[in-house]
Amino acid sequence: MRQKRTENDSMWEKWTDDWLSHRVSYGHVRREALTTKASTRGSEKRAGETESLHVLVLNPNPSRSFPSLSFSLFPSHCRSISPLLLETKQESKNKSEKRSIDRGKMCGIFAYLNYNVTRERRYILEVLFKGLRRLEYRGYDSAGIAIDSDRGWPPAPVAGGENGGKETGRPAYDSPFPLIFRQEGKIESLVGSVFSEVDAMDLNLEKPFSVHAGIAHTRWATHGVPSPRNSHPQSSGPWNEFVVVHNGIITNYEVLKETLIRHGFTFESETDTEVIPKFAKFVFDKAHDEEGEQTVTFAQVVTEVMRQLEGAYSLIFKSPRYPNELIACKRGSTLILGVKELTDANSGTFSHDDKTFTTIGKPKEFFFSSDLCAIVEHTKNYLAIEDDEVVHIKDGCVSILKFDYGKEKPASVQRALSVLEMEVEQIKKGNYDHFMQKEIHEQPHSLTTTMRGRLRANDVVLGGLKDHLKTIRHSRRIIFIGCGTSYNAALAARPFMEELSGIPVTLELASDLLDRQGVMYREDTAVFVSQSGETADTLLALEYALEHGALCVGITNTVGSTLARKTHCGVHINAGCEIGVASTKAYTSQIVVMVMMALAIGADKISTQSKREAIINSLPDLPNKVSEVLKLDNEMKDLAESLIEVQSLLVFGRGYNYATALEGALKVKEVALTHSEGMLAGEMKHGPLALVDETLPIIVIATRDACFSKQQSVIQQLHARKGRLIVMCSNGDASSVCPSESCRVIEVPQVADCLQPVINIVPLQLLAYHLTVLRGYDVDQPRNLAKSVTTQ
Ligand code: UD1
Ligand code: BG6
Repeated sequence: MRQKRTENDSMWEKWTDDWLSHRVSYGHVRREALTTKASTRGSEKRAGETESLHVLVLNPNPSRSFPSLSFSLFPSHCRSISPLLLETKQESKNKSEKRSIDRGKMCGIFAYLNYNVTRERRYILEVLFKGLRRLEYRGYDSAGIAIDSDRGWPPAPVAGGENGGKETGRPAYDSPFPLIFRQEGKIESLVGSVFSEVDAMDLNLEKPFSVHAGIAHTRWATHGVPSPRNSHPQSSGPWNEFVVVHNGIITNYEVLKETLIRHGFTFESETDTEVIPKFAKFVFDKAHDEEGEQTVTFAQVVTEVMRQLEGAYSLIFKSPRYPNELIACKRGSTLILGVKELTDANSGTFSHDDKTFTTIGKPKEFFFSSDLCAIVEHTKNYLAIEDDEVVHIKDGCVSILKFDYGKEKPASVQRALSVLEMEVEQIKKGNYDHFMQKEIHEQPHSLTTTMRGRLRANDVVLGGLKDHLKTIRHSRRIIFIGCGTSYNAALAARPFMEELSGIPVTLELASDLLDRQGVMYREDTAVFVSQSGETADTLLALEYALEHGALCVGITNTVGSTLARKTHCGVHINAGCEIGVASTKAYTSQIVVMVMMALAIGADKISTQSKREAIINSLPDLPNKVSEVLKLDNEMKDLAESLIEVQSLLVFGRGYNYATALEGALKVKEVALTHSEGMLAGEMKHGPLALVDETLPIIVIATRDACFSKQQSVIQQLHARKGRLIVMCSNGDASSVCPSESCRVIEVPQVADCLQPVINIVPLQLLAYHLTVLRGYDVDQPRNLAKSVTTQ
């Protein structure tokens, strides 16, 4: 590679010299701070040029902040330095902004800081574990925590043995260095290993701390296999001078890693994250060498680290150099701060006064979390941290800085706490064995909250859409975009949306839209459906639609999610926190929101008024109908018992219930780990019929609607081929759909055709649930899946 560059060498040398002299004029950059790396970038090749130069310039002195740069160049760029620098800085910023939705793994990060309130080490550990348990649905293949060791810990290998572990002299600081515990597997295996390690090192669990900062992480592996070494917290090296937990992806980690290796750092893990604590130490050491003791603040170190990072991330930093402080920052990935003010340190009672956000001296507890679910049981006072904010907790106060690539110093920001509208019960299983079971049975309630305040006499009011209805009505096309269950919900809504709006409706799986770079117009309305509002494919498709000028509408369950923030408008489905990885209550609420959306869009159409009014009038009774269908629970358990040994399952649906077939099959696939396929019944004779025999169970959805007679014909054809049939029909229709007693029937209440998918999916959710439990699989955290996939 080096040889290939020979003919351009003089150009490169001139460029670096010019560049250095340019920067030197600022007086801050020394020659050794410049690191170059040649790399071939196929996509960037131009005629006569085979390589680009990737340049990383590190700012060695964060207390004198100026923008450091990381960018690629071609030799021909070297002719004009100054404009280039400006342009490159802008490009770098744009790239980072774009990548703010170029997300990485879905992990959970959590931190707990008690201030002026005495907490024993055991209590601190329990708070961290509890936080991780709440976040476990986000990733569950490994986990870790960092807490303080005891003062006077002898200079010996670091606990956990993963971070250097060498016999090195202890760095010059008094505060206890952090102990890191990491373990492969679920949170409970971390808990077990922490207590046995603590035992082995004779660490006093009853030791009280009036102030202490602990951090924690649960992981879904993408960079490096699940192992203690690749788990977080990741460390700067021996003595854990900087430890970090990370949710997201660092896209330029390889360049940073090479640079740090050149500066003498050794890496232990395969993660992208490890560059972060090591870079923090690099920044700290540089400042320390040049300016002496403690000239650089924790926030300066972190903002300097942020300056170098590309990708999407939320991070929490802990350091014995800044004892009892925590810093969190984010770019893309969600991060919440919870603040609990204690009026009486011993009783643990607290007020909800959010004006005490910065009261000095009062006992407080602070929590950082990837998700509100891990905060709600501690406090309802929270702050949704925004992109590029650096939140610093020190001496019981919170200070927030806004990081800006273009500015030397981040600006201070004033924010107020919000009060969380979520009840603790939402994140607990209550009397249920599993979250999925709870969430299936909760649907009458979740549908009620979805509709609350939105139904009027003969009308529907969606506050988030009302100002955009005119634009939507003038759209050339409505495009629904989503993944997995959210896509299926859109599929269920399509027939009704077309009928009531009179606008052509198309559907896109987000990844396919991106793969094809599908056609999109300014006159399109793109509706993004996502429970979490954080799915990478959906967010990248959103970015694509925004670039093409379409009106972007979001339908999400997650207030404050990236989807909610980046769409022009939208509707929150208000289904409540969904924790089971397999989506159930969010699916039915998504359908109901899309039905309401169709009703709102079609409000000005005379031809469909009577149908529209009939639907609006039947919506309030829908939760009761769902309660009715939930009574099939035992019947579905019985059916699951009869299917426990099957290897494969087919589900046939059409019209409104084509989506039900896909979603029912997806549920079985996801949690019961059984092959199942949802199929369009109209396609049966064009291939799937070949599979039919006496052993393969086939569910046919044949509730009453315009397609009913066609489904009757499908059932007869399957029966003629001795198919093992399970037919779902409307109450009282058993004899019309079941040609003989050999066929099993599931009878469900009948509702308006567009709402029938909400009813019909419930027995299939119950079937998937019971099949999973009977097979002994993990219902809430199925193998290899995460609640929302934040990687492409
Ligand atoms: C809103 C309030 C609700 C209040 C109600 C009463 C919120 C989150 N909702 O509900 O607490 O009771 O008014 O007036 O404060 N949005 C997007 N993209 C999305 C989802 C939503 O841009 O993906 C936007 C909407 O356009 C709207 C806002 O977020 O501007 C809130 O949406 P939504 O909660 O659906 O609105 P309301 O039902 O009116
Ligand atoms: C993941 C989940 O694949 O993301 C699915 O495992 C889910 O259950 C899909 O349907 C889409 O998630 P979201 O949050 O965008 O609706």
